[in-house]
Amino acid sequence: MKILVTGGTGYIGSHTAVELHHAGYDIIAIDNFDNSYPDVLDNIKKITGKELAFEKVDIRDKQALKSFINKHKDIEAVIHFAAFKAVGESVQLPLKYYENNVGGTVNLLEALRENNINNIVFSSSCTVYGEANPPVDENCPISSAQSPYGNTKQICEEVLFDQTKTCDLKVVSLRYFNPVGAHDSALIGELPIGVPNNLVPFITQTAIGKRDMLTVHGNDYPTPDGTCIRDYIHVVDLAKAHVAALKFLREKKYKESFSIFNLGTGKGNSVLEVIQTFEKVNSVKLNYKIGPRRIGDVVQIYASCNKALKELGWKTERDLENCMVTSWAWEKHLKQLAIGH
Ligand code: UD1
Repeated sequence: MKILVTGGTGYIGSHTAVELHHAGYDIIAIDNFDNSYPDVLDNIKKITGKELAFEKVDIRDKQALKSFINKHKDIEAVIHFAAFKAVGESVQLPLKYYENNVGGTVNLLEALRENNINNIVFSSSCTVYGEANPPVDENCPISSAQSPYGNTKQICEEVLFDQTKTCDLKVVSLRYFNPVGAHDSALIGELPIGVPNNLVPFITQTAIGKRDMLTVHGNDYPTPDGTCIRDYIHVVDLAKAHVAALKFLREKKYKESFSIFNLGTGKGNSVLEVIQTFEKVNSVKLNYKIGPRRIGDVVQIYASCNKALKELGWKTERDLENCMVTSWAWEKHLKQLAIGH
């Protein structure tokens, strides 16, 4: 079965390409290298021992995308990662996000429709739930998005849902909680662009000396230690969920044309727990201070993963300690390569 991975050199895309390879799939990837580098392809090859079939295609370029897909009519399913993901930037540059994330998805759907390619796994986010009572399951209502980025995820889900009503399209939308960690080889991981917004890249960059100090955004929340709680999921576990989602589509296990799964560990950890775990497993002291709350943060969210377990036969295998060990190994690898340093 030939699988197209859009955004195949990105953080989750690259780990998924590796897991698809291990599962025996024939993969072709596209990316525009907007937030990744061609070196990722070499590193994937170092891990799998096989060249990843790849073409540089920007999903905003409708004609280029169509002619690429016309050349690969044997694609049976698409895993669609290609999207911008910086929440803060999306507030500054909303059109950039709508054009790429929503417009690119529309372009992709048109090209797939023309070629009768009817299976998509979509990269969505728990951000669609906003402030909710955890554990959050898939029936939890969507709340209005806190950022243009979050809105693009909601809109794309709606676009995909509407499209399933017009043809044989089958969609699995995977709502990720907080993806962290890196491949055990430390050859692929999340590449930093500018000052990270997210907690774990900020921790590793502070520990390595690239940032002076981490600020914990608020310790007066109604949680046991006063800091916010999230569900941190290892990117390799997440990648394996995509393999499970493909199997679900291939074996026609779906009850509806549009299926949603939450992907998390089912366990919440506070910001301070993440910091303490990082310090403990890596024997590193982290420079941090408590600062004010960050606008837009929800107090606590973690997933109910029962549906993914029951219907995809998937659950996480790694814990927070492994997330922190692999994130740190990746940061040290980036330093050696002088990437982002
Ligand atoms: C963020 C995005 C979310 C996206 C997800 C993907 C926002 C508001 N939300 O989720 O849309 O799907 O990333 O990874 O950006 N923290 C600190 N200090 C820091 C950075 C973070 O204390 O320097 C805290 C935050 O306040 C939060 C927790 O760490 O409590 C996790 O933050 P982050 O990694 O940015 O993820 P989310 O905000 O949960």
